[in-house]
Amino acid sequence: MCGIVGYVGKKKAVPVLVEGLKQLEYRGYDSAGVSVIGSGIETVKATGKVAVLENKLGGNDFGSMVGIAHTRWATHGKPSDRNSHPHGDCSGKISLVHNGIIENYRELRDLLVAKEHKFSSDTDSEVVAHLIEEFAKKLKFQDAVLAALNEIRGTYGLAILNSDEPEKIYAARLGSPLLLGVGKNENIVASDASAIVKYTDKVVYLDDGEMAVVGSDSYEVVTIKNKKIQKKIDTLDWSIEQAQKQGFDHFMLKEIFEQPEAVSNAMLGRLLVKEGMANLGGLKDVDERLKGINRIIISSCGTSYYAGLIGEYMLEEFAGIPVEVEYASEFRYRSPVIDKNTAVLAISQSGETADTLAAIREAKSKGALALGIVNVVGSTIARETDAGVYNIAGPEIGVASTKAFTSQLTILALLTLYLGRQRGMSEATGKKIASELKKIPKYIEGILSQKNDIKKIAKKLDKYSNLLYLGRKYNFPIALEGALKIKEISYVHAEGYAAGEMKHGPIALIDKNFPSVFVVPKDSVYEKTISAIEEIKARGGKIIAIATEGDKEIAKLADEIIYIPKTLEMLTPLVAVVPLQLLAYYVGIGKGYDVDKPRNLAKSVTVE
Ligand code: M6R
Repeated sequence: MCGIVGYVGKKKAVPVLVEGLKQLEYRGYDSAGVSVIGSGIETVKATGKVAVLENKLGGNDFGSMVGIAHTRWATHGKPSDRNSHPHGDCSGKISLVHNGIIENYRELRDLLVAKEHKFSSDTDSEVVAHLIEEFAKKLKFQDAVLAALNEIRGTYGLAILNSDEPEKIYAARLGSPLLLGVGKNENIVASDASAIVKYTDKVVYLDDGEMAVVGSDSYEVVTIKNKKIQKKIDTLDWSIEQAQKQGFDHFMLKEIFEQPEAVSNAMLGRLLVKEGMANLGGLKDVDERLKGINRIIISSCGTSYYAGLIGEYMLEEFAGIPVEVEYASEFRYRSPVIDKNTAVLAISQSGETADTLAAIREAKSKGALALGIVNVVGSTIARETDAGVYNIAGPEIGVASTKAFTSQLTILALLTLYLGRQRGMSEATGKKIASELKKIPKYIEGILSQKNDIKKIAKKLDKYSNLLYLGRKYNFPIALEGALKIKEISYVHAEGYAAGEMKHGPIALIDKNFPSVFVVPKDSVYEKTISAIEEIKARGGKIIAIATEGDKEIAKLADEIIYIPKTLEMLTPLVAVVPLQLLAYYVGIGKGYDVDKPRNLAKSVTVE
């Protein structure tokens, strides 16, 4: 997830672009860059935050009134000046910024290199500039852009400059947000409204498969098949802060709603449904070594640790590899027995968690293969592991982890396919998992549409100061995660427990003032979990159930029910966690807390 801004008008472009980038910085902050049309294309890039770029520009505006800019959240190619956007073609006439992923960039790059194009970065984005250049040898520039858009697969929000047309910006969208702010004698293209509200409240939202050709006094929108379309102009009533959150009240809620996209991004180009396999490019270099691995230790903290517990169930059941999961803070100090046939897998959203990093260093010092599932590209854990898979979930700003978790589970399911198919998983099983995994984003959308019902249930939970969260097998870690979420942001005491263990102790706590939240999908342990519900009911405890659509039995037992779609047992955690995130969110805001910055917590725990 990156931030894009483009300006064409009567003001000096650089200050408007830099200001726009500052508003978009929450979308990515590992590097930034700007291109304007002066005597030709002038480009300045810098690794680090927008302030570093601003310093490097040193007030130079090149006298230009048209330009594009970008703040990056690395996906392909580590954060560096070289990989920062904008990217150009060979002639130096084209410059562009991109948000998204070009899935077929390797094959396009090979084709273009064969035609003697010279690349200056490791990014997928640069390929688009060269592709346009190639088409422009035979076509008018606008047609060349359209031709290129029709060749690329994946997602994009693009803003493009052509020095031969110094009063225009081309802007195109497929799967990555892009809008046009319509001003007086000026127009601004941006990833979201936060970069434009200062200048205008009139916006045109580009839809997927559309391209805008934007001048200072006019604009035209066409589909990528070159059909002209009339777009509605909307009026914004957002403050800059609200705009960054895209209309959501909090980053946490926005990130909960971004899960369909985060889960899709994690699978993009990796999930091979027809083959029932996963293609994990980040593991290619250690592929041979992986074949000799006879044990995996997953080491992480907090929510990432719970993802690891679910990974253990998936990998043992479907890939047949012994897996242990351990808190990184314990692992590092207890002299674990590991050797070169052990893989230690660190799961970390930030890639900077001190305990997880120490676990990886410990593992490497003992000769283990160090692997990572990390969201922040170029973070320390990403750099220090031997190989790994990036989440591509975009920045997670809310302290309570939400979209990173479902993205981690998606990658663990992909890893299960990857290792499972190496170790005898049948093609039929692979296909079944792959085709069901593909449906998860749609299932999550369905759950999100129940947010008002979940809010009503949260209101009823408001008066309780203790909650028990229970689940079994794949959903035991979801009970732990549900309890952690509500603890973190609503300061309600909640315990996560294995439903089958409840009778060995916690049941003593139950009375009418101590409700239990049960994760009870129709899976192989459904009946066992129902028995645990009966035991709580018999002691006057209230039941809130997360259950499978169409389950009539549960309606007789639970006081409140939130339904989730039926899916494969190993994938139920991906859907079951979503109502629990929403429940925690609404209890937290019901109590008036700042859910994005809960007390005593930090987003990235870089101390022991
Ligand atoms: O960045 P990491 O995934 O390594 O962070 C691990 C934990 O600190 C993190 O998951 C924490 O528990 C969150 N606040 C959970 O919402």
